[in-house]
Amino acid sequence: MSNVILKNVRKLYDQNTVINDINLEIKDKEFIVLVGASGCGKSTILRMIAGLEDISSGEIFIDDKKVNDVPPKDRDIAFVFQSYALYPHMTVRENIAFGLKMRKVDKKIIEEKVFEAAQILDLTKYLDRKPRQLSGGQRQRVALGRAIVRNPKVFLMDEPLSNLDAKLRVQMRSEIKKLHERLQTTFIYVTHDQTEALTMGDRIVVLDKGVIQQLDTPEKIYNDPANVFVAGFIGSPQMNFIDGNELGLDENILYGIRPEKMISNGNIKKTVNIDITELLGSEKIAYFNIGNRKCSAKLPSDFYIDKNLEISLREEDLFKFDKTSGKRIY
Ligand SMILES: Nc1ncnc2c1ncn2[C@@H]1O[C@H](COP(=O)(O)OP(=O)(O)OP(=O)(O)O)[C@@H](O)[C@H]1O
Ligand SMILES: [Mg+2]
Repeated sequence: MSNVILKNVRKLYDQNTVINDINLEIKDKEFIVLVGASGCGKSTILRMIAGLEDISSGEIFIDDKKVNDVPPKDRDIAFVFQSYALYPHMTVRENIAFGLKMRKVDKKIIEEKVFEAAQILDLTKYLDRKPRQLSGGQRQRVALGRAIVRNPKVFLMDEPLSNLDAKLRVQMRSEIKKLHERLQTTFIYVTHDQTEALTMGDRIVVLDKGVIQQLDTPEKIYNDPANVFVAGFIGSPQMNFIDGNELGLDENILYGIRPEKMISNGNIKKTVNIDITELLGSEKIAYFNIGNRKCSAKLPSDFYIDKNLEISLREEDLFKFDKTSGKRIY
């Protein structure tokens, strides 16, 4: 069992609240993703779980044991950072072995563990190379190797792929997922990339300004957002928000609709003026304003667009939000 529980956790930096009363129960073997804009508190949460940062109030449990006063080295956690900072003068083998060597683990055991990690990560060919002789993705795998050999109860990963180019990032995403399946350990993964969150997480925590906005499966987060923030944050291009009066509907309600649902043969029709269109290979995105809000429609790439476009929305595709609180109205 390696669950992680945060109870009423707060963090203040010089009277500024950056984490506000977080309650979170991460299950054993779960892959949970924390996602949110820059500065919303993702790294702070990871650092508090790792013990690298004190908490201002509340409790943290790992494996049902309260760890508020347990030093980082005794929390049985491995942390993979964004900048993986390998030792440039050491080989891959030495880099992976380093933490174990510092802990004075038996040489034979180190050798076995390094070999096993290298096999899992497909690094056996590179064990005698120095980091500068590796690609970005290989270096990132070495950083993962350093974490794996420690057999931690929990893996914490803070934007581990953000230094990689787009193609490699996609590839490493599935490698990390495979690693999770193979190791059967709890993973807590931080990203500001919503696609990474949707594709990797068993559950996703959407954060804004140190407050959890929604904790749910990727499907629920996308199809059933709890408020305007989550609805606008997850999905690309983002959900369109339209004032009710623009559609001849309840003017006190803010309506939300996904760009892919804008032309759906529905009864709610409106003609809009196209500002610009973008061709993205298999699809085309058209941008326009409705009232003073920017909107978009995702269309097949061969869809003919003139200066005007008639949108046709179906009632069942509309999300309703309270204009003041931003909360979803069901
Ligand atoms: N040591 C510190 N002293 C004061 N304020 C801090 C400190 N560390 C972080 N903060 C503030 O706390 C807030 C949360 O920071 P944090 O690093 O957790 O954000 P993040 O979500 O990880 O952002 P990013 O996506 O940019 O990495 C920010 O407003 C940041 O400026
Ligand atoms: Mg961060």
